[in-house]
Amino acid sequence: MKKLIEKAHTLVEALPYIREFYGKTIVVKYGGSIGDDELSNFARDIILMKYVGMHPVVVHGGGPQIGSLLERLGIESRFVAGLRVTDRETMEVAEMVLVGKINQKIVATIQTLGGNAVGVSGKEGKIILAKKIDVTKFSAENRIDIKDKEDLGMVGEVEKINPDLIKVLENADYIPVIAPIGFDDQGNTYNINADHVAGKIAGALNAAKLIILTNVSGILDEEEKLVSSLSESTARNLIKNGAISSGMIPKVICAIESLHEGVDKVHIIDGRVERALILEIFTDAGIGTEILL
Ligand SMILES: Nc1ncnc2c1ncn2[C@@H]1O[C@H](COP(=O)(O)OP(=O)(O)OP(=O)(O)O)[C@@H](O)[C@H]1O
Ligand SMILES: [Mg+2]
Repeated sequence: MKKLIEKAHTLVEALPYIREFYGKTIVVKYGGSIGDDELSNFARDIILMKYVGMHPVVVHGGGPQIGSLLERLGIESRFVAGLRVTDRETMEVAEMVLVGKINQKIVATIQTLGGNAVGVSGKEGKIILAKKIDVTKFSAENRIDIKDKEDLGMVGEVEKINPDLIKVLENADYIPVIAPIGFDDQGNTYNINADHVAGKIAGALNAAKLIILTNVSGILDEEEKLVSSLSESTARNLIKNGAISSGMIPKVICAIESLHEGVDKVHIIDGRVERALILEIFTDAGIGTEILL
């Protein structure tokens, strides 16, 4: 009986958090770097969020999965400042993997476990209007040295988010699951870093939170120690001195941008930890790294 009462207490302890986020949008980025085994737990957490009245919006990545299919096809992968150099062939593979495979897998898992999800790419409902990334501007803004003439191919950045379709889905109680593919007015397809997409969507939706789930415990400093709270200036220094590199760069940049665009809180947490999302939302445990302005 005592155990049962404790369980009931745990539920009631979630009340302030449920009240705080009831009816609010929480954008959750699910890293492609997190193994398949964690997907069911993640899907359950998302479904729970929905049933207690929050509006989770899922954006997913797929770096390793794109990489492994490219490898099987004998196509070389190359990265510049955490961005995948994307020629036409690579773009085709990336779209297939992100939209056809990963997106559908997440949707199917949510459906199987009792939620109601709709998978879309940035093309549906013109959610993501994209353009070719401006490498010179990107490197200057983020103080990353990139060779001036480096052509990243079909690597895009978000020009504009059109949140209409996401809102329709939210209001009809579906969980939107978004693949980070965008297109421009001419119909050119772009591969966009999923952290960047998640940040922009969080900004456009005025999300209460952006939670980035990945395959590390959070942001690590020069000594590989977890930084639990990171300010914008420290983040920029850690990028400059190389402590923050590769796939962590776009996370930090998008976190800062989305905070400037009005998102209340951004967290980078370990998606491999069981119930990571629940711990982050329903407790004061403060796991991972919180980014502050
Ligand atoms: N300072 C840092 N702290 C923590 N991780 C870092 C740091 N600098 C670089 N990283 C790297 O960033 C990686 C996470 O980004 P990565 O792009 O690989 O995964 P993801 O974004 O979760 O997946 P996807 O891009 O497929 O969505 C970590 O595994 C780590 O190797
Ligand atoms: Mg990444």
